[in-house]
Amino acid sequence: MSVIHIHGYHCLEGEIEIQGSKNAVLPVMAASLLHRGTTVITNVPNIQDVSCMLGILEHLGCRCAFRAGTVEIDASQASMMPISDTMARQMRSSIMLLGAMLGRFGEAVSSCPGGCSIGKRPIDLHLYGLRQLGASVRVEGERITASTVGLRGSRVTLAYPSVGATENVILAAVAARGITVLEGAAREPEIEILCQFLTELGARIDGIGSARLLIEGGKSLHDVTFCIPGDRIVAGTYLGAVMNAGGTLLLRGAPVRHMEENLRVAQQMGAELKQVPEGVLVHMAARPRPADFVTGPYPGFPTDLQSVMLAVASTADGVSHIEETVFENRFSTAKELQKLGAHIIIEKGVARVEGHFPLTGGCAEALDLRGGAALVVAGLAADGLTRVTGYTHIRRGYEDICRDLHRAGADIMLVREAEDERDITR
Ligand code: UD1
Repeated sequence: MSVIHIHGYHCLEGEIEIQGSKNAVLPVMAASLLHRGTTVITNVPNIQDVSCMLGILEHLGCRCAFRAGTVEIDASQASMMPISDTMARQMRSSIMLLGAMLGRFGEAVSSCPGGCSIGKRPIDLHLYGLRQLGASVRVEGERITASTVGLRGSRVTLAYPSVGATENVILAAVAARGITVLEGAAREPEIEILCQFLTELGARIDGIGSARLLIEGGKSLHDVTFCIPGDRIVAGTYLGAVMNAGGTLLLRGAPVRHMEENLRVAQQMGAELKQVPEGVLVHMAARPRPADFVTGPYPGFPTDLQSVMLAVASTADGVSHIEETVFENRFSTAKELQKLGAHIIIEKGVARVEGHFPLTGGCAEALDLRGGAALVVAGLAADGLTRVTGYTHIRRGYEDICRDLHRAGADIMLVREAEDERDITR
């Protein structure tokens, strides 16, 4: 297994091209199953979760090709196949296929999904939404079996704006007969992107971007080519990287419109930001200032960037308070940051972070995707060698975090296990 090696204290300069959004492309790929034809998706990031989704779609009989950032999915010959435990556990987004499979085949068999170990991640809201649309769903142990004699539009009110449940209901509703009114929908930008894709595919959706969506199902769909926007979480990660390393960096293709709360907190912590036509230009001349903020559903501060900001707050000139309200286990990264010298105390869902500079090099383990990225960000402000293990988690969502930061001037590389052992025994 590979290990990331970082030597801190190198300012970041130049630019990083922000890859296409992981959380947008996965539901769009799942949605392609609804269309008995060909979907072309461009600006697709070359990450592990995309490979997993392609594997599942091929298993369902789709013909898929992925070349130079473009995915082509021909779903004309797709047929119902159970999704195995192994496939479903590889990533959380496999759950999205429930709605798409019900819509396309009238049945679905899958397992409870995997993904990061950031919290309990129940699926009750997904199941409620699909049942409202006329599916009968049974969960036995880890097995989910769903079928329908015909999905029909209905009123669905989500008790919490779950991103995945919203996406599942939208996918099933597009294939249902009649009108679905979805209230309490998540408003994350990725939902808006999915709705834009489905509209281009031929679906009829009103209220895009709001918490109340009106979906007229049963429209005929047609071939489409769709471009995935930049990844706001990857952009926020590299913003955190400059804040810890210092320097001036252009985040090319950063979806600024969807990063408001992230940019607000970054500015409060001392980042100088300039919106330019290519994205956002970040300048960080001094140590970060402390800040207090709370994660929450969009437009709140994204939970996916909480760990990265924990790493930034760890080097700040004072005490920050960060409250997590979405996923209870996201703070597991705090323990790993402590191995790099961070002073973090967690109490009742709030992290009290007493910043100091520099952090100290050491070995820390990526326990989940964004937590892994946070350790890299911490390493940029640490004295000596920082080794980050658990690279497979990071590969799920970042094309090549070492390549991107190295090109911007960081002393960072991915080394094989044998070289890693040689380096630490030196
Ligand atoms: C998606 C994102 C993830 C992000 C999260 C919140 C993808 C692939 N992943 O995950 O990166 O951190 O949104 O922005 O897009 N919940 C229930 N019952 C359910 C479903 C969810 O109680 O049926 C709870 C969860 O336990 C959690 C909260 O709702 O506390 C948010 O989960 P949800 O919005 O569903 O996140 P995901 O779609 O899993």
